[in-house]
Amino acid sequence: MSIVFFDSGIGGLTVLHEAVRLMPHEDYIYYADSRHVPYGLRDKREVQRLVCDAIQAMTERYDVHAVVVACNTATSIAIQALRDRYRMPVIGMEPAVKPAVRLVQASRKRVLVSATPLTLKENKFAELVAGIEAEQFVDPLALPELVRFAEKEQFAGQTVEAYLREVLTPFDLSQYGAFVMGCTHYIYYKNLFSKLLPEEVALIDGNRGTVRHLQRQLEVLLPGRSGKGSGQIRFHSSLPADEADRMTRIFHHLQAEHDGVT
Ligand code: SIN
Repeated sequence: MSIVFFDSGIGGLTVLHEAVRLMPHEDYIYYADSRHVPYGLRDKREVQRLVCDAIQAMTERYDVHAVVVACNTATSIAIQALRDRYRMPVIGMEPAVKPAVRLVQASRKRVLVSATPLTLKENKFAELVAGIEAEQFVDPLALPELVRFAEKEQFAGQTVEAYLREVLTPFDLSQYGAFVMGCTHYIYYKNLFSKLLPEEVALIDGNRGTVRHLQRQLEVLLPGRSGKGSGQIRFHSSLPADEADRMTRIFHHLQAEHDGVT
């Protein structure tokens, strides 16, 4: 039995990394729809079809007991359709606005939420912010180019830095207490965001919260059935096999970086 992690590309590897650390006794399948990345600039019906088809293909091929949509854009668009279709736990990503708002409450600072244009345009995002009555102090920041940079493994350097400096220019950054990375691809830029934002601005992402949620769901819904794997990970992509090898390489790099090997 395996858990499928799905993303449009390499972003979800950061979530998988967190999951493998917290739940080493599961087996995992990672699927990257690299042929169609970036999702954040596509039509929502197309994204819904792509996500549903990919998950369908993985569930036909493997014995799957849970799905993690490790992509904020795909979650905004397709999570409900997937939950309607499958009885197993289907976990999605949500921009971590709630913890960010809790963090800044006392200081009355603002929260800047970065995500893809499609995530920010969706009702799910507006409802998330309205649900915690934070409309007055949450500002969206679409970073349409950052997913492309990430897929090219351009995680630092002058071009990316100049792009981020430019998109941040309209904001008075001294007003902010938290910056939310609301796209799993953006996690690769944590160091760069730290460099460009004032020191007091906390960087927040939803990876750990998502994995903890998955863990709880497995404990409640599949007691005694999960946690019996060997930590095996199979990598797949909608592009030819080399792309799955690239996913494997980047994932191992994340692990090595975390263990302080690089
Ligand atoms: C994208 O494919 O545009 C990025 C997906 C995400 O929101 O993580």
